[in-house]
Amino acid sequence: MTNRMHKPKRLACLYACLLCVTAPLRANPPSEPQPAQAAIASAHPLATRAGFEILAKGGNVFDAAVAVSAALAVVEPSGSGLGGGGYWLLHRASDGFETMIDGREKAPYAARADMYRSRPGASTDGALAAAIPGMPAGLAHLAERYGRLPLAVSLAPAIRHAENGFAVGHKFHKLLGSRQPVIRRFPSASRIFLPKGKLPEPFSVLRQPDLAETLKRIARSGRDGFYRGEVAEKLVDSVRAAGGIWSETDLASYRIIERRPVKGAYRGIKVTSAAPSSSGGIVLIEALNVLSGYDLEKADETARKHLIVEAMRRAYHDRALYLGDPDYGYVPVERLLNADYAAGLRSTIRFDKALPSAMLAGEPEQNAEAANTTHFSIIDRDGNRVAATLSINLPFGSGFVAAGTGVLLNNEMDDFASSPGTGNAFGLVGGTANAIQPGKRMLSSMAPTFLENERGVAVLGSPGGSRIISMVLLAALDYAEGHDPDSWVSLPRFHHQYLPDGIQYEPGALSQAEAATLAAKGHRLTALTERYGDMQAVLWNKKTRALSAGSDPRGEGLALVRP
Ligand code: GLY
Repeated sequence: MTNRMHKPKRLACLYACLLCVTAPLRANPPSEPQPAQAAIASAHPLATRAGFEILAKGGNVFDAAVAVSAALAVVEPSGSGLGGGGYWLLHRASDGFETMIDGREKAPYAARADMYRSRPGASTDGALAAAIPGMPAGLAHLAERYGRLPLAVSLAPAIRHAENGFAVGHKFHKLLGSRQPVIRRFPSASRIFLPKGKLPEPFSVLRQPDLAETLKRIARSGRDGFYRGEVAEKLVDSVRAAGGIWSETDLASYRIIERRPVKGAYRGIKVTSAAPSSSGGIVLIEALNVLSGYDLEKADETARKHLIVEAMRRAYHDRALYLGDPDYGYVPVERLLNADYAAGLRSTIRFDKALPSAMLAGEPEQNAEAANTTHFSIIDRDGNRVAATLSINLPFGSGFVAAGTGVLLNNEMDDFASSPGTGNAFGLVGGTANAIQPGKRMLSSMAPTFLENERGVAVLGSPGGSRIISMVLLAALDYAEGHDPDSWVSLPRFHHQYLPDGIQYEPGALSQAEAATLAAKGHRLTALTERYGDMQAVLWNKKTRALSAGSDPRGEGLALVRP
């Protein structure tokens, strides 16, 4: 690593304060040889290429992560963007240093616990649904603290795609179609995404000149280019004029937090994943801990699925009960990750019968809806890694663009439990730990993850709202059984999230006989007509020293390995 790894002096004090509370993990330096190539998997070919472009310019994996994140913000605005946030899980090969950048959005200071009561749609559509973005601060922090290159270089591909335009894909067309009624309500958004009032056809070119200007400001001035000055003024004026509650103080005071990733082990595999304010890592590791008491490879296929579902049910139940922003209340991380605690949960699982979720706690049923977000995974030739999951929540977020900025705002406020016990857009219920409070981060399900054993190192994650964690769980079990990224990303998926109490499954995930056996055990089954998720994964096989990468066949991403 270069001396750019050391923080600028003027920020040293601030970081020292943050890091003393949330010190990232320091591990022993690895002794293994490193891969001789680099691998990037992301949800859009232009984003994957942006990452390689920056590596070729002498950037390290963290510069490449800035480039991929920013490119996705431009070419996949359905999933993430400058108006959103996310989590970057980092591993530095030279000394084993690992940390998670929590760039999750925060509730504005004027937010109140009951602000969405009796206001249908207000937590998902329009300016009031938008929380204070963390993405620009995350990009600036990654570049300044961990990168080698200035933002002007690592943001260049994104600026180019915003200025020159990019060809709209089928996924973009479909998701935009589903959010079109909301986007049409906001002229600043429809001008960009519905040119001449029409849904852009696949292969038409979409330009975002205002977004290019905002990116240039960030390139010149770092986080201040977004959180202060002209862009900040435009953001606040526009949000307030549309009924939102942002203030300039909300923007100026936004800070990322570096947190210690959560760690676990499953059958000799080290699992490293997102810490709260995401529930992703805890729910993933808790489910794996429950499953570690069984030999899943020897179980018949239906018994295996029944056990996985029962583990998901219990881990998601704890999500609803205990998880929220750790800066606003105690989150019992050690207990939830404890193997004996998992053994207690395991002792309540019967082989012959599903446990109704109401026996864990009675809650109303909700329907899960479509989800968005994005994920990318990178390993560079030195073995440095980034797993990043980024979001603006539902496809095209709130559908609202702050006039003159090109910034499409998130609707992450819906990830709070705005009415404890009632489900959000993903049907997830939550309690007071995830109630709305001024300045608080809403609970996420994002689960950027590393898996590591003597076989290799895997970097993976996916979009998909509440289903993110169960997707990563199924992929981790597949890794444990010796499979490669192409298998993890394409596996037929099934999901249980405690409430609604039922298994949702993709076409092909359960045979008729399996579905009948699971129903006889008491499981309620919902056969989905569409597949879900867009997993992006890379693997460094330590035995063969080869890198491989997989991009979910459900999406339009690109996974590449290059020298
Ligand atoms: N907005 C989806 C998540 O954070 O889980």
